[in-house]
Amino acid sequence: MKINLNDKNINKVSADVEIIITCPKNLNKVHDIKLLEKVNFKAHDEEVVLLLEKQKIYVGCEDSSYDAIAISIAAAIKELKKTTFTSAKVLLENDDANILKPLVEGAFLGEYEFSKYKAKKEKTNKIKLTIVCTKLTTLLVNTLEDSIIIASSVNKVRDFVNTIPNDFFPKTMSREAKKIAKNADVSVKIHGEDYLDNNKMHTMLAVGRASRHESQLIHLTYKPKNATKKIVLVGKGLTYDSGGLSLKPADSMLGMKSDKGGGCAVLGILNAVSLLKLPIEVHGIIGAVENMIGGDAYKPDDVLIAKNGTSIEIKNTDAEGRLVLADCLCYAQEQVEDLDYIFDFATLTGAAMVGVGQYTTAIMGNDVGLKCSAVGTALRAGELATNLPFNRHLRKLIKSDIADIANLGTSRLGGAITAGIFLDQFITKKNKNKWLHFDIAAPAYVTHAWGYNPIGASGAGVRMTVEFLKNLDNNKC
Ligand code: BES
Ligand code: ZN
Ligand code: ZN
Repeated sequence: MKINLNDKNINKVSADVEIIITCPKNLNKVHDIKLLEKVNFKAHDEEVVLLLEKQKIYVGCEDSSYDAIAISIAAAIKELKKTTFTSAKVLLENDDANILKPLVEGAFLGEYEFSKYKAKKEKTNKIKLTIVCTKLTTLLVNTLEDSIIIASSVNKVRDFVNTIPNDFFPKTMSREAKKIAKNADVSVKIHGEDYLDNNKMHTMLAVGRASRHESQLIHLTYKPKNATKKIVLVGKGLTYDSGGLSLKPADSMLGMKSDKGGGCAVLGILNAVSLLKLPIEVHGIIGAVENMIGGDAYKPDDVLIAKNGTSIEIKNTDAEGRLVLADCLCYAQEQVEDLDYIFDFATLTGAAMVGVGQYTTAIMGNDVGLKCSAVGTALRAGELATNLPFNRHLRKLIKSDIADIANLGTSRLGGAITAGIFLDQFITKKNKNKWLHFDIAAPAYVTHAWGYNPIGASGAGVRMTVEFLKNLDNNKC
């Protein structure tokens, strides 16, 4: 997709098709109302009609929220892709940068297709979209550039997560991190299993033991000269989760290539913040591991010692993400002193999906204000998110008879929260209120198309985090 801004009169802008976004209450004012009535177009959200002879696409949009605008432009782009037309123009209402952002991001996200494994590729005509404004202000030009970087980073994450486990394993994650390290001010350190062994990261090491792929601890650092804050992002990068010896049932294993969604989101965020040249230091730390079965697999009944000395009774090898994150969180806090925020991203629990539905990220942490601010930021950035609360009763459920804690709660109820509480054990006192846990198990992988997301990876986590980092000084609840 190529998007540009133009301040000519819309009638003088040449394009195959004009896209007209309209709300139900303004429908009677549109030029083609008679024709639109004939096809029963009511301008409701997600409603789209192509008037072929007029070379116009009308799309409904019931309000000016991010979602409504992004979904409507995505619907128009999808309609356009069914034709042989390759260019379109659309009017930017009131020269509003808050409309431009969802317009650009919705167009990019709506155009996305993953056809790597199709012998016959779908038509890949690059679409050219001209957004027409009355005055080309710096704000509009900057908004356009930023939104292109953000949406392209989301699409990069979608490509990574959609790639099959045979083609995307821990070393592939390292390779992609190295590519991102080519951006200005980004460096990367890659550690293999010897490092994990020598640095007491035995819980992460155990999870990957039965895999033929060597586990990788990836540490990307974006450090511009003018950095004012230090942020650490930690990602669960399970390139495949079979469940291990506590093997998943066949149906639940399908889609587990998406268990690298958190780690890939961290790659996407590092890509975006470095291209946006944000004035902050950002660390991206990813535990890239494959959870498999075999004679060397770690077992239910094992007791593992995490990097901070906590002993963990393994009750289920399918609760592996929290083990990888435990060591990565310890590593992160040892490596980065005086951090301002530490966030982790993980497709951690099926329970999060049961609890909040398949579209929403569950955010947990100790600081209510920070959690609430993150939810607000996510919604503004076009991602659905909500808070889940810790409490003292749920905290008791991960007690173990023989070790410091267990990797499984004694009750399935509140499973997303007990997983969050488990991670909290690996957050130092100093960082308790600087930490947030994002369980993206639900939105990271789409099983029926919704909004501007086709089936497959959604790139969850990127837009909300970049928005948070762009507004670090005013992320108030
Ligand atoms: N990767 C899964 C969580 C998951 C489930 C992600 C569905 C995406 C879709 C995680 O490692 C897992 O298996 N969690 C278990 C935890 C349980 C054993 C406590 C789960 O949610 O069932
Ligand atoms: Zn698992
Ligand atoms: Zn998992």
